[in-house]
Amino acid sequence: MKQQQSGTTAPIGAPDYSIDGRIAIVTGASRGIGRGLAEALAAAGAVVVATARRLDDLRPLLDDIEAAGGRAAGYELDVRDVGAIGRTFGRIAEEHGAIDILVNNAGVGDGMAAEDITEAYWDEMMDVNLKGLFFCSQAAGRIMLKQGRGRIVNVSSQVSIVGIPDGAAYCASKGGVNQLTKVLALEWGARGIGVNAVGPTFIYTPGTADRLDEPEFRRSVLERIPAGRIGTIQDVAGAVIYLASPASDLVNGTLLLVDGGWTAR
Ligand SMILES: NC(=O)c1ccc[n+]([C@@H]2O[C@H](COP(=O)([O-])OP(=O)(O)OC[C@H]3O[C@@H](n4cnc5c(N)ncnc54)[C@H](OP(=O)(O)O)[C@@H]3O)[C@@H](O)[C@H]2O)c1
Repeated sequence: MKQQQSGTTAPIGAPDYSIDGRIAIVTGASRGIGRGLAEALAAAGAVVVATARRLDDLRPLLDDIEAAGGRAAGYELDVRDVGAIGRTFGRIAEEHGAIDILVNNAGVGDGMAAEDITEAYWDEMMDVNLKGLFFCSQAAGRIMLKQGRGRIVNVSSQVSIVGIPDGAAYCASKGGVNQLTKVLALEWGARGIGVNAVGPTFIYTPGTADRLDEPEFRRSVLERIPAGRIGTIQDVAGAVIYLASPASDLVNGTLLLVDGGWTAR
């Protein structure tokens, strides 16, 4: 970029994927993808701020990060509680000096046939996946705007852009995440904040293992993934770290699919 703007012929160096020392919040970090993302961010040098509804559920993660030589702290946070989000993010900024990265991972995702969906089920899906994600972004965004810098990465899904049976509420919530990602990128992009999303396919985690180990279901999933394999948390971590790093500085408002090609057809 420098080369094009200045017209000089300075060599272009390797892209900067470094997030060393960055303060990185991961919501829903007690298990599954969030736990793995927290470990990967810490391994990449970030100071991880892990959140979940119960602090005790974060202890194993915090111990593992510390044992591996990383830096991490845990905070209790139910993302359905908007007041608690503001207070917790304020505390985090005060205690750590900044919020550089927010990974909005907390989510719920059980499937239910459209004709069976209740108001309570619908509200829970929207409260966690969409409303919680928005107010976490707002709380982090207010702090990042003062800092004049920050990166937000929303964990969306491949089914934010395609449908799956039994996914009415889940797909709608993730479609909303994509739209929020675009709007926040437009509002905050000129003020130093990048907002992007990742869209994973089925990811093998302790929570999805039972289902993905069923031969019939596994076959039906693999038939749709040209890459021929189920996703791993490591696959998602690669995309998240890229979007959290200076290497993606000009990437804003986008959905980076990590779906092995599921949605390419
Ligand atoms: N697994 C997949 O195949 C897949 C594919 C595409 C996208 N995703 C997305 O990836 C994200 C993580 O999924 P996962 O499979 O790892 O799920 P998971 O194993 O069920 O973990 C969900 C995490 O979200 C947290 N959470 C749930 N409700 C919360 C609330 N009200 N407040 C705060 N935290 C809450 C849980 O923490 P506590 O319950 O301990 O508070 C837990 O840490 C979700 O956004 C999901 O939609 C998953």
